[in-house]
Amino acid sequence: NSAVRDRLRIAIQKSGRLSEPARALLASSGLSWRESRDKLFCYGESLPVDLLLVRDDDIPGLIAEGVCDLGIVGRNVLRELINEREESGKPAAFREWRALGFGGCRLSIAVPDVWDWQSPTQLAGKRIATTYPNQLRAWLRTQGVQADIVMLNGSVEIAPRLGQADAICDLVSSGATLAANQLKPVLDILQSEAVLAGPAHPFADARADLADLLLRRMDGVLRIRD
Ligand code: PRP
Ligand code: ZN
Ligand code: MG
Repeated sequence: NSAVRDRLRIAIQKSGRLSEPARALLASSGLSWRESRDKLFCYGESLPVDLLLVRDDDIPGLIAEGVCDLGIVGRNVLRELINEREESGKPAAFREWRALGFGGCRLSIAVPDVWDWQSPTQLAGKRIATTYPNQLRAWLRTQGVQADIVMLNGSVEIAPRLGQADAICDLVSSGATLAANQLKPVLDILQSEAVLAGPAHPFADARADLADLLLRRMDGVLRIRD
């Protein structure tokens, strides 16, 4: 998609942990919007920068297709799609432009509380439930461990109790969800936080200057927060 555009379109999570801090960062960077009734598309007023409110998992694909120019998304989501494209030999269409310092969490391997955990070799031949099969597969490969990956889109933590899996690989923030499901984190395979994602190649039209301006302002806001 090489359509020439003179407005920048940023995708953020519609509802979830990153929605509010993402909006706040953009607002602190000087953006304001006239909200549409359904609020899925917010027209930029102070600058020609529009907001699109979507499922976080859709953000990398929207950037890859050129539907959106930038996105604020968890590194875990971005990394998963980058790994998926690598596995299937597709070029990286998007990359992390900036780490944003909020929404911190880890993508961790967790096992039942009762396991006496020693090392990843204990996962050999086991079933591991996850929403992040590509990162888990890559990590298992680096460990030289063969295990079965059980793909689930949500409620991964319940899989061991249901007998669907022996262990899980999921996001851990406070650890409360793991604890509530008699699981314990044993290894982190990714340190995640919200990131600004953008195309792998620079813009070739008016969006280049807009993106530069936005990045400068965001960097200013992030510096003050540190
Ligand atoms: C994430 C993650 C865990 C939970 C961990 O889910 O998948 O389930 O948060 O947080 P905790 O360690 O603080 O308990 P989220 O609430 O984002 O919902 P989702 O899995 O439906 O995306
Ligand atoms: Zn999600
Ligand atoms: Mg969850």
